[in-house]
Amino acid sequence: MSENKYAELIIDGKSYQLPVVEGSEGEKALDISGLRKNTGFITIDPGFFNTGACYSTITFIDGEKGILRYRGIPVEELAEKATFIETAYLLLHGKMPNKPQLQAFSQLLNANSMLHEDMRHFFDGFPRGAHPMHILSTMINALSTFYPNVDLLSLKEDINLSAARLISQVRTLAAFAYKKSIGEPIVYPRHDLSYCANFLNMMFDSPVQPYEVSPEVVKALNLLLILHADHEQNCSTTTVRTVGSAQVNLYATISAGVSALSGPLHGGANQEVIDMLRKIMRSERDVKKFIDRAKDKNSAFRLMGFGHRVYKTYDPRAAIIKKTCHDILSRLKTDDPLLELAMELEAAALQDDYFIERNLYPNVDFYSGIIYRAIGIPENMFTVMFALGRLPGWIAHWQEMLTKDTKICRPRQIYTGHTLRHYEKSS
Ligand code: ACO
Repeated sequence: MSENKYAELIIDGKSYQLPVVEGSEGEKALDISGLRKNTGFITIDPGFFNTGACYSTITFIDGEKGILRYRGIPVEELAEKATFIETAYLLLHGKMPNKPQLQAFSQLLNANSMLHEDMRHFFDGFPRGAHPMHILSTMINALSTFYPNVDLLSLKEDINLSAARLISQVRTLAAFAYKKSIGEPIVYPRHDLSYCANFLNMMFDSPVQPYEVSPEVVKALNLLLILHADHEQNCSTTTVRTVGSAQVNLYATISAGVSALSGPLHGGANQEVIDMLRKIMRSERDVKKFIDRAKDKNSAFRLMGFGHRVYKTYDPRAAIIKKTCHDILSRLKTDDPLLELAMELEAAALQDDYFIERNLYPNVDFYSGIIYRAIGIPENMFTVMFALGRLPGWIAHWQEMLTKDTKICRPRQIYTGHTLRHYEKSS
């Protein structure tokens, strides 16, 4: 942080000094924490376009240059060399694990992979066709009743155990939710399988057809989960920080994050992209019609998987997924006509002035569904996969926030309603 730099704010001829703060990558901000106390004014910033809500050491994004780093390490390097579990450890602990640390973390994940058996009954109450994201957020909240004491004080003692339990059990919950939705018996986790292999086995193994875990599929899943593992102050992480700031139980807090992620403008976009591509396919590949609709201000339609609050260039995660799509599809010996169509749509949008002027590029959700489809993940589980990936990031932010003496999140507002008026009995 820079010291002794100030910006001058003049209100009604009176001058105030606002400290300038600077991050380790040169990002600058005005510290307005004393603004209301000193001036009586607040700031208005709907959607928080210009608001830095915290200091954080977890993830760095340069949206203009398309840079994404977890704890300083470029996401490209992690995607190529790391596993999801190593990445989760990195996010939670700030450094890559050595061999004994990784082994201990994996053992903790295994030891905590089973759900309390009573949790199984909860699944019976959901209506048929319930979206797995809503089942997931409900079930994670239900976990808080089994582990009511996972709060700030207990976690200071053992964040490792609570994080491992959550990361492991949410994976089990996600697979159970899927099995429930298709009416098949649930499959329990196995200690002999790695994190991703275990998830795939719980999803696809069945009493009549044993599932063979393919190393190619495990690799592809690791890649996708790594790319989703954190993204600094996005909508769901901000939700986690906001709910957590009231010192809410970790599980209940993460459940709120899952709910935020489910929205079509956030994580839910990955499912919407496939839906959109299928509609374009059905319209005899009329790409232009869909581009025109996305540009039409009288239409609510948006090109799903396009645009980003922070990236004003190509989303580095989308670049990695696009680059590996063909490779993964060919290694899995499968083809997807939606991939060619997605590339056609992207090319058309990137040549269009509307998208050029607004810096709208494919985001992480644009191509991820193509890989999920190739490895057999059903469409209504796409956003659940995003949640599995994002979990270590959410926990890391929760932990960082609570260990930094953070105040409860409580923005102010400018009231624009009625001024004082009085109750009148209706005649
Ligand atoms: N299609 C068409 N127009 C778009 C799109 C899009 N996908 N995205 C943004 N725009 C336009 C807006 O209409 C607006 O135009 P205007 O200046 O003429 O009013 C301009 O671009 C800026 O868009 P905003 O909505 O102000 O940008 P914001 O930062 O608030 O929204 C968001 C970002 C929500 C991601 C937006 O780009 C969008 O809706 N994209 C489609 C949904 C999507 O893919 N979401 C996933 C995002 S990544 C993630 O959360 C994991």
